[in-house]
Amino acid sequence: MKVTVFGTGYVGLVQGAVLADVGHDVICVDVDAAKVAALQAGHIPIHEPGLEPLVKANQAAGRLRFTTDAAQGVAHGELIFLAVGTPPDEDGSADLQHVLAVARTIATHMTEPKTIVNKSTVPVGTADKVADTVRKVLETRRVALAFEVVSNPEFLKEGAAVADCKRPDRIVIGTRAPQAERQLRELYAPFNRNHDRIVMMDVRSAELTKYAANAMLATKISFINEMANLAEQLGADIEDVRRGLGSDPRIGYHFIYPGVGYGGSCFPKDVKALIHTAQSIGFTPDLLLAVESRNDAQRQLLARRIIAHYGGSLRGKTIAVWGLAFKPETDDMREAPSRYLLQSLWAAGAQVRAHDPAAMDEARRIFGERDDLVLCGSPTEALEGADALAIVTEWKIFRVPDFAQMAHALHDRMVFDGRNLYDPETITRFGLGYVSIGRAPVVGMS
Ligand SMILES: NC(=O)c1ccc[n+]([C@@H]2O[C@H](COP(=O)([O-])OP(=O)(O)OC[C@H]3O[C@@H](n4cnc5c(N)ncnc54)[C@H](O)[C@@H]3O)[C@@H](O)[C@H]2O)c1
Repeated sequence: MKVTVFGTGYVGLVQGAVLADVGHDVICVDVDAAKVAALQAGHIPIHEPGLEPLVKANQAAGRLRFTTDAAQGVAHGELIFLAVGTPPDEDGSADLQHVLAVARTIATHMTEPKTIVNKSTVPVGTADKVADTVRKVLETRRVALAFEVVSNPEFLKEGAAVADCKRPDRIVIGTRAPQAERQLRELYAPFNRNHDRIVMMDVRSAELTKYAANAMLATKISFINEMANLAEQLGADIEDVRRGLGSDPRIGYHFIYPGVGYGGSCFPKDVKALIHTAQSIGFTPDLLLAVESRNDAQRQLLARRIIAHYGGSLRGKTIAVWGLAFKPETDDMREAPSRYLLQSLWAAGAQVRAHDPAAMDEARRIFGERDDLVLCGSPTEALEGADALAIVTEWKIFRVPDFAQMAHALHDRMVFDGRNLYDPETITRFGLGYVSIGRAPVVGMS
């Protein structure tokens, strides 16, 4: 099928490449000319396992093209995907400017019927807004062309985006239009052979399903973080509690890791947008408000502990930070807990030496040159000359460090672990103090 994807970010690029890989003819359109030029030259702008060979192979096969030419994109696709960003507006609502801009672009250039498929995460009612926008432009052009607006939210996980798109758990399609349903069933048939993954529903339910899914996952994280805080105060160990809790198949082990709070480009903005939607219709989302406020507190926790350990000021102290990306296997630092940590450490007067296996360029782009930040080429280099270590992202490479060397490198022999990577008994045997989440701190053993 001929497919056009507007937006070549984490969602659009991966989805475009995966659709091309099963034989569809895909054009990806982006307004970012530098990004398009890079993609045309075979450079992949994001870190996502398996993406580079997939893009290159399909580009070489002529099934995947990149352009800034919106008119060409609109002419090409019988299905036109919207995969542009929906960042939070000042009031927390989803900013629909990019979605509606693409709607106007499509309506400006279309000369035959189109099916517009919205993959961006958008509030309930957005499909109607997109349809209104398209209708108005068509009216001004004085042309009568049929079109449908379908909701097809994306559930991929950054860090496993290619695998998720190739083998989706479910394909939610929100439309009541038989022709659009037929087109999407045909498009996704190659992903739907083992068993039926398609969940058909009306467009509003599809829009809400995406927010409900992310809100549920954020709730699990805030729940376990709340239990971790309780565990500390009650003298329990959250890691034991987690294992006891997750073994119940009704609960499961996923998303009950205590830590430094949820971050990334989706959960914080989607929880906020859903709160905003609820409040805008006079509904008080008690649970979502609590999920958000627990998370706000949680992402300050590690910094608060480090600062408290040093008596309120970090002047003259150097803190090594392991992990900048919001989670492993990505370079995405949008709303990353590391950013909150770094800001607090700097505000308290600390110098920071940081390392991340994938997000160094992104960190350089975000923070620029500053005297109080050294970006280091390896985890060990980050420890050199540091007083203490803070761990923010659970990359595999941080899981089995050389504790003896760590104890030797860190002047104050302190590890503040926001991801509970280590067994307290093991690490403290090396003379390191260890403060983690939801477990009794072990300080001053050396
Ligand atoms: N990142 C994820 O893990 C994920 C998962 C599921 C859903 N989503 C949702 O998918 C949407 C896209 O997310 P993302 O992370 O891929 O965003 P992103 O910021 O990585 O990419 C968005 C892209 O859209 C482009 N763009 C903006 N306006 C445009 C226009 N008028 N025409 C063409 N391109 C335009 C931008 O230049 C950018 O390249 C969001 O609504 C997000 O909530 C994201």
